[in-house]
Amino acid sequence: MSQNASQRQILVTSALPYANGSIHLGHMLEYIQTDMWVRFQKLRGNQCIYVCADDAHGSAIMLRAEKEGITPEQLIDNVKAEHSADFADFLVDFDNYHSTHSEENRELSSLIYERLKEAGHISTRSVTQYFDPEKKMFLADRFIKGTCPKCAAEDQYGDNCEKCGATYEPTELKDPRSAISGATPVLRDSKHFFFRLQDFSDMLKQWTRGGALQESVANKISEWLDSGLHEWDISRDAPYFGFEIPGEPGKYFYVWLDAPVGYMASFKNLCARRPELSFDAYWNADSTAELYHFIGKDIINFHTLFWPAMLEGANFRKPTAVHVHGYLTVNGQKMSKSRGTFIKARTYLEHLSPEYLRYYYAAKLGRGVEDLDLSLDDFVQKVNSDLVGKVVNIASRCAGFIHKGNGGVMVAANPAPELTDAFAKAAPGIAEAYEKRDFARAMRDIMGLADKANAYIADKAPWALNKQEGKEAEVQAICSLGINLFRQLVIFLKPVLPRLAADAEAFLNVPELTWTSHETLLADHQLNPFKPLLTRIEPARIEAMVEASKEDLEAAATETAAATAVATGNGELTKEPIGDEIDFNTFAAVDLRVALIEKCEFVEGADKLLRLTLDIGDAKRNVFSGIKSAYPEPSKLEGRLTLYVANLAPRKMKFGVSEGMVLAAGPGGEDIYLLSPDAGAKPGQRVK
Ligand code: 2FM
Ligand code: ZN
Repeated sequence: MSQNASQRQILVTSALPYANGSIHLGHMLEYIQTDMWVRFQKLRGNQCIYVCADDAHGSAIMLRAEKEGITPEQLIDNVKAEHSADFADFLVDFDNYHSTHSEENRELSSLIYERLKEAGHISTRSVTQYFDPEKKMFLADRFIKGTCPKCAAEDQYGDNCEKCGATYEPTELKDPRSAISGATPVLRDSKHFFFRLQDFSDMLKQWTRGGALQESVANKISEWLDSGLHEWDISRDAPYFGFEIPGEPGKYFYVWLDAPVGYMASFKNLCARRPELSFDAYWNADSTAELYHFIGKDIINFHTLFWPAMLEGANFRKPTAVHVHGYLTVNGQKMSKSRGTFIKARTYLEHLSPEYLRYYYAAKLGRGVEDLDLSLDDFVQKVNSDLVGKVVNIASRCAGFIHKGNGGVMVAANPAPELTDAFAKAAPGIAEAYEKRDFARAMRDIMGLADKANAYIADKAPWALNKQEGKEAEVQAICSLGINLFRQLVIFLKPVLPRLAADAEAFLNVPELTWTSHETLLADHQLNPFKPLLTRIEPARIEAMVEASKEDLEAAATETAAATAVATGNGELTKEPIGDEIDFNTFAAVDLRVALIEKCEFVEGADKLLRLTLDIGDAKRNVFSGIKSAYPEPSKLEGRLTLYVANLAPRKMKFGVSEGMVLAAGPGGEDIYLLSPDAGAKPGQRVK
């Protein structure tokens, strides 16, 4: 798009998801709202660029890769492919999706660090921390466990107690041990690098009150600013998965140092293939482009204190605004794996159209930082009544008469100018609501217009007129107006429902609609045949999604067992346990037996599970196992021996009770390998 004088230059980001887990509907709340805002800006003709990336660094990613028996690079590649597919299928249209583990990010992070150092904003001092002598690494607080110093609850993390809520230093924990190796950690000194955040106090006091933040966010930040800022530890010691600090072997940038720089890096990567974009025009200190970050309320400090200070100190521009949103709850509660409300993006997509959720989020999203509740009953009701009952209904009611009565050609008459006027008058308010991210208000206004259009059609009842002699022209005028009003609604909803808009453009036989398209009406215009644009949500689909989410939990349990098996059973006997160490008695408590797979079959309605009937010598057992992806022909497993955990508590699932678990190796997906004893083993024999 070439640039004109009134065209704004806008760069937009969503928080970078960690490269060690799946995207769920909580994440989608952010990506969907950002995407809707970006699509609105593009529809208005602005140059709006939306970049994101995977947040690929840190010890959690390093340890997870190790557990899966792959390199961190392999892990982050796999996860990036998964994330990208989830976003694309939710119609989130990034201009670029990159990774923080990229050359652009290494260069920019180093540049920012060098500039901060040059300007005297980096200091160093020695820090004493717990060190895992077996794993030979310093331990972040969450990798230390022990007994709470306040209430004596066992097995608590290094910084707070889940039982009594106390917060403390890891050194206060009684009987500390490494959550990685189980070893008793020792205290060790190491040189750390700090960013002197306090040097930016005055600038931050001004910037946070200068319109960049929602009021409640600015108030929260004021509390931090008033209590005084401190230097921020930006280094971690090897082993660490990240970027080595220039000139400091064995010292790495803490993941949160290079994560926001990932926004710049993703944009820079995009500039290489979009010559009309200038990195400097967007990032130089005197840039007139706008920069917006959409984030959740848990990462406010990183984006409103550390990040603007880093940018200022390194002579780059600061964000125009940081847009903060609340968390997602489902059915009024925190998402829960056992209730099946911890819903992965992919699980949702396997059951429902992305546009249902996009609309529901839009209908409930205001400008504030309050949590948003996805009430599943309300979701069904709202989508069916608004999108299907109000919007799509107008087109399906009117199109048939135009096709049958006038060869699909809309006539030029406007029998209700007061209605088209009302639509035209509402447009600036809807645009303003989008601009301010008050999506709920935009949706309310749009549905108010849809109500007016439906009331008009119901009042005129073209289906009744059509049966009367000499009313043909009137029927065509009413229905042509109906289609025009439908077209206006589609324009207003296009940022939220891009696929519906594309399908409607095909039916309307028009080029891509832009915001200003609402200023004209179609007249003497040939339509294409009408196809249903959206169907109602059947509640059974919601139930299936919730059940599948419970099933994901089951499959995850199998995969964890598989990953652990591969880690401890791959023949490389190392001294270091990969997971938490267990004592002999705990191991001996596992009743592991040889089992004969008598029967193995698909489970109707289950995407990931197989049902196994096991002969364990003196009894039969029914087990559900999340290994379907690796065994597309289940009957081939029949007659094979495997290993079976006999004393796992039975689990009630939608499909029946699962009595124990079979053991498999491999990271998951098609790479799952059922474990078998040598020939000659007998069903029921205990594994020793
Ligand atoms: O909290 C998170 O999920 C982080 N990965 C967000 C990073 S946002 C940005 F700063 F990179
Ligand atoms: Zn406690």
